[in-house]
Amino acid sequence: MSAHIASLAAELLARNFGGTDELLIGGVPISRLVHEHGSPLFVYDADIARRRYRDLSAAVSGFASVFYSVKANPNPEIARLFVEEGAGLEVASARELQIALQAGAPASRILFAGPGKGESELEFAVRARIGEVHVECFEEIQTLGRLAQDAGQRVRIGIRVNPIAAAQGGAMRMGGKPAAFGFDEESLADVIEALAGQAMLDLVGVHLFAGTQILDADTLLVQWGHGLDVAARVAQMIERPIETIDLGGGLGIPYHGADRALDLGKIAAGASRLAARKASDALLRDARVVLEPGRFLMGEAGIYVMSVRAVKQSRGTRFVVADGGMHHHLAASGNLGQVMKRDYPIVAATKLRAAAQDVAALVGPLCTPLDTLARQTALPVLAAGDLVAVLQSGAYGLTASPVNFLSHPAPKEILVSGGEPLVI
Ligand SMILES: Cc1ncc(COP(=O)(O)O)c(C=O)c1O
Repeated sequence: MSAHIASLAAELLARNFGGTDELLIGGVPISRLVHEHGSPLFVYDADIARRRYRDLSAAVSGFASVFYSVKANPNPEIARLFVEEGAGLEVASARELQIALQAGAPASRILFAGPGKGESELEFAVRARIGEVHVECFEEIQTLGRLAQDAGQRVRIGIRVNPIAAAQGGAMRMGGKPAAFGFDEESLADVIEALAGQAMLDLVGVHLFAGTQILDADTLLVQWGHGLDVAARVAQMIERPIETIDLGGGLGIPYHGADRALDLGKIAAGASRLAARKASDALLRDARVVLEPGRFLMGEAGIYVMSVRAVKQSRGTRFVVADGGMHHHLAASGNLGQVMKRDYPIVAATKLRAAAQDVAALVGPLCTPLDTLARQTALPVLAAGDLVAVLQSGAYGLTASPVNFLSHPAPKEILVSGGEPLVI
């Protein structure tokens, strides 16, 4: 493999974007897409997204079904792709709910979670008769109870639980500490009492989500096991079976050299142990178990492509200045909540075989040093017009970026499916 490409990027290129000297996505040369649509661009490969969904579904079959967390990439065509694969959708706002419905998701396979849902959002969810609303505070229980009464319609409720045990090993921890997400596990009795006082709310599920970007299978399995324990406890308290156990998302993907991909073999073995445990509990036996990953399903399927505008030296450091940056891809700049800023896998997309010249900083067009997509990356000799691609960019890319900052145009998003690129 060419000298400028680090091992993770080389592995991703070989698996997904194999070409000669030029990156191909879904079989289409990247330079053709930039020629036709300009740059910067987000490009997604539908086949990779489908493969990720199928691989994970196969690994957890017999235990859980896989939903897609729309927040990872809310482009309506991406949501549609997963719905066509058979996924349910997890949404976090009225707009995401609208996207889910337009994507053709059956209402019964939509779950709505989020720490501060507005009344109009809840009303929309009630009217749309979605599968479950996952409540996260007492005010929401009151509001939903009233909306359900007004509409004369029963509403299925899951309790979002902030678990006692933190998931170790993830980037963003959402369990085991004070959090705005869900109810503390210690307060379940109060939540159940509040729901029991609401005639039109049916408590049917529990939902745990303890962290994101978890690469260790054992950490996830411990967390899922804890989810079964919580579900069993709630079922005993309400003296009837639980219908849905939502174990959240959080499955990670490698971004950096030291990261190891999640071991799906271990996940499969652990999932079948958990399935046996669930089957042995009469109150859980018939419950559907849901996973709702976003990053795992979409991250690897997308790249962000930029054109080089200038190459300059400043006091011994080479700067490659590109036309894209943190305003489109905040996460790659290390500013989306990362503790440590580490470079994403980045390649010179039309010079894959070129040797590295020396390390360079890859920066965008914004007037801030935060707009740095790579601090010290090995890149070949580049000139204005060359293309650079950031891999692992399908999730938390455009949607998680301050696209209006400095008022550059938003990038197009292209989905390549069956060899055909479509602007989405
Ligand atoms: C409730 C909930 N579900 C699912 C997800 C998706 O997480 P990930 O993309 O890490 O799988 C998130 C992300 O923040 C979330 O808050």
